[in-house]
Amino acid sequence: MSATVSLQQLTDQLEHLEAEAAAAIANAGDAAVLEELRVGLLGKKGRLSGVLGAMGRLPGEERPLVGQRANRLKEQVQQLLGARLEAVRSAAMAERLERERLDVTAGSSYVPPGHRHPLQSTIEEIVDIFAGLGYRVSEGPEIETDHYNFTALNIPEHHPARDMQDTFYLGGDRLLRTHTSPVQIRHLEANPPPVRVIAPGRVYRRDAVDATHSPVFHQVEVLALDEGLDFSHLRGTVTTFLQQFFGDLPVRFRASYFPFTEPSAEVDVQWRGRWLEVMGCGMVDPAVLEGLGLDPERWSGFAAGLGVERFCMVRHGIDDIRRLFSSDLRFLEQF
Ligand code: DAH
Repeated sequence: MSATVSLQQLTDQLEHLEAEAAAAIANAGDAAVLEELRVGLLGKKGRLSGVLGAMGRLPGEERPLVGQRANRLKEQVQQLLGARLEAVRSAAMAERLERERLDVTAGSSYVPPGHRHPLQSTIEEIVDIFAGLGYRVSEGPEIETDHYNFTALNIPEHHPARDMQDTFYLGGDRLLRTHTSPVQIRHLEANPPPVRVIAPGRVYRRDAVDATHSPVFHQVEVLALDEGLDFSHLRGTVTTFLQQFFGDLPVRFRASYFPFTEPSAEVDVQWRGRWLEVMGCGMVDPAVLEGLGLDPERWSGFAAGLGVERFCMVRHGIDDIRRLFSSDLRFLEQF
C-alpha cells in the first residue's frame, strides 16, 4: 500500500476504469458475461471499491470530488450493463425466433390416405347385417385349450372330427383355435341364455397353402339360444343374412354333419353357374348344452360358422386367397 495518493491519480484511475468498462461491456456476448463484469466492477471486492478504499487517504476536502466522480462512474456502468443486457436478450430472442420459425403455409409431405383391408370391410359388413337382426359381438382367444376347441363342442379325443381340422398344437393342452366355435362355449359360460351373438376372428389350420387355403383365415361364428327356437329360425336367419350380403343369389341347404349341431347343414349359394359352399350350421346339439349345465328341454338354438375369405372372394371376384394376405398395395388399393 503506497503511503500517499493524489487526487489526480484517483481521477485518472476512474477515467481509465470507465473506458475499460465501456469496452468490456460492449463486447459482452451474453447475460452471464455481463453478470461477471458487474461483480468485477461494482461488487464489494470489485475495481470501484478498490478506488474508493484509496480515497480515504486523500485530504478531507478532496474526497467529495472523487466520491462524485465515482458515483457517476457507477451509474454510467450500471446503465451500460442494463442496456447491453437488453441488447443481448433481444438478439437471443430474435435468433431463436428465426431458428424456430414455422411456416404454417408450407405444403405438407404427402401421406397417402389409407382405407380398410377388404377382409376387414367384409367382416364389418357381416357384423352390420347381424347387428340389424339383434345380434351383438362376442370374442374369444386365438390360443385355445383342447377343452374349448374340441371337447366342450362334443368332439372327444380320438373323434375323427379332430382330423378334419389339422391343428397347430402349442404344447400342453394349448393350441391355435381351428374355428371360432369355442366362443360359443365361452360366451354361454359367461352369459345365461337367451343369447344372440356373433364372433368374428382369426383361426388357424395346418392346411397346405394353395389358391383357396391359407394356414390363417377368418371366420364368423353365429349363435342364438332361447326358448322355442327351431330349424325354421335357423333357415330364416341364414337366408335373410345371405340375401342381404349377396343380393338375390339362389341359396340351398344340404344335410351335413358337425359334432356340435344336430341336425346340421351346409349352405351353398349359386355363383357363376355353380353351387358354392359358404357356411356350416345346425341346431345346437343337446350334448353341448348339457356340458354347460343348460337344460336342453328348455333351451334350444342354432349355430353357424362361415369363412370370411370365401365371402370376400365371391363379393369382389378374387380368385386367389393368397392375394388377401400379400400386402400388395397394387392389389389392395382396388377395394
Ligand atoms: N366350426 C365349423 C368349422 O370350422 C363351422 C361350423 C359349422 C360352425 C356348423 C357352426 C356350425 O357353428 O353350427 O368347420
